[in-house]
Amino acid sequence: MSELQIIVLAAGKGTRMNSKLPKVCVKTFDQVPLIHHVCRFIDDLRKLYNCLKPIFVLGHEGDTVKKSISEYRNIASDIDHEFAHVIQEPQLGTGHALMAVKEKLGLKPVDTLVLYGDVPNMSLDMIKALIHEHQGNHASFISFDAETPNGYGKVLRDHEGQFLAIRENKDCSVAEQQTTEANSGICIFDGKFLQENLDRLTNDNQNQEYYLVDLINFAAKVAVMKAPQAILGVNSPRELTALNQELIKENREFILNRYGEQLVIHDLETLYIAKSVRFTGKEQIVIGPNTTLLGDTIIDEGCVLEGTTYLLDARIGANTTIKFGSKITDATIGSDCQIGPFAHIRPQSEIKSTCKIGNFVEVKKSTIDEASAVSHLSYIGDTSVGKHVNIGAGTITCNYDGINKHRTTIKDGAFIGSNSSLVAPVTVGQNSLIGAGSVVTKDSPDNSLYITRAKAVIKENWRK
Ligand code: UD1
Ligand code: MG
Repeated sequence: MSELQIIVLAAGKGTRMNSKLPKVCVKTFDQVPLIHHVCRFIDDLRKLYNCLKPIFVLGHEGDTVKKSISEYRNIASDIDHEFAHVIQEPQLGTGHALMAVKEKLGLKPVDTLVLYGDVPNMSLDMIKALIHEHQGNHASFISFDAETPNGYGKVLRDHEGQFLAIRENKDCSVAEQQTTEANSGICIFDGKFLQENLDRLTNDNQNQEYYLVDLINFAAKVAVMKAPQAILGVNSPRELTALNQELIKENREFILNRYGEQLVIHDLETLYIAKSVRFTGKEQIVIGPNTTLLGDTIIDEGCVLEGTTYLLDARIGANTTIKFGSKITDATIGSDCQIGPFAHIRPQSEIKSTCKIGNFVEVKKSTIDEASAVSHLSYIGDTSVGKHVNIGAGTITCNYDGINKHRTTIKDGAFIGSNSSLVAPVTVGQNSLIGAGSVVTKDSPDNSLYITRAKAVIKENWRK
């Protein structure tokens, strides 16, 4: 095949989704917006076909959708994901969306593949088959057998099973509504046919919208590819829930196929994992129950995740144990660390090797150098902690004065007594000892003892 034009329809409001976000920006369980799934898919297609610059049709909250697409491009920086867009205003249906492309950009007479921004879970093999089958036809599309077909366009066939038309549910007779074969939305048009027929679309239907499917109905030569699996459209929270169930299962299979010889998974049914998560080395990695691993998370060999763990964009060094109930987002943990139980490591934090972060400790935008320990009940925010530092239970860095955030520096070998407050900006010197219960407002010199504790007053026989 020579050239392929991809068009993504993403202008609709998505009223049925009941979300403040435009529908295509709503996220699946793995925190990936629907439109990013489609972008990834386009990147896969671009490796296989000679694709022209993909065109996105934007409309409702177009700026938000455009921003989301740009964010995708930044993440996938190895792919030169250039795209064009047109604004469809007002949004008068999927056919009208294509008309907007013709009007604003013109359409080259090349094969044109249409993807829907709310149909994120596509199979590359199916599209390859569709493109292959399409040769010599005016229009071709993918159908599937839908368990709950009500929201989809129905694929109507004659008694011999020959394709007749796609009819939207609202326009179907009661008998036609029983049809279970549904239109996936994914279709491809011969470029010349598209140019010649787009202007024939009318809005003469129940919804008074210009339906893209009518273009398929105009075509004399149509190929229908029936997919063996459902290709879910996402129009409502219920449909998003259904899609999530599919993705969760599919991702587990994908990870098992890729890393099955390395991972010991206690309960596959409670593992929620994105395909983008990576495991390195060869040595066994243990994943306890109820574990969520998302985004650009990388886990090195020998790690143990005890369970009820949430990792998003987290990098975990070799032989580290993440104990029960810990959450780590956009942070790096070194090798041979003990994290948790119930630790919260927030973005832009780096914990180097052989550190211990214990229960009910929150770390934010901080670095903690090798062999340091924050073992219990502490908040470490906007802080640089050196090597071999011990931070006692209940230590709080007071980083916020109500207007600005300030940094705390704790140098190598320092010892912070329990229940101390370090009022930033402040520096605790090398090997300095902060007495328990101190409120540290001044810098403590290296090797010093710093204590602000009031003297104990003891009055014997006080109570008669
Ligand atoms: C559409 C199909 C239906 C198919 C189903 C598959 C039509 C008429 N119907 O129905 O046959 O079974 O998808 O999921 O095509 N959009 C625009 N501009 C608009 C309207 C919609 O860009 O004016 C975009 C939406 O943002 C969305 C996509 O087109 O990404 C599909 O629109 P939607 O309203 O969800 O169509 P469905 O009712 O799901
Ligand atoms: Mg839809």
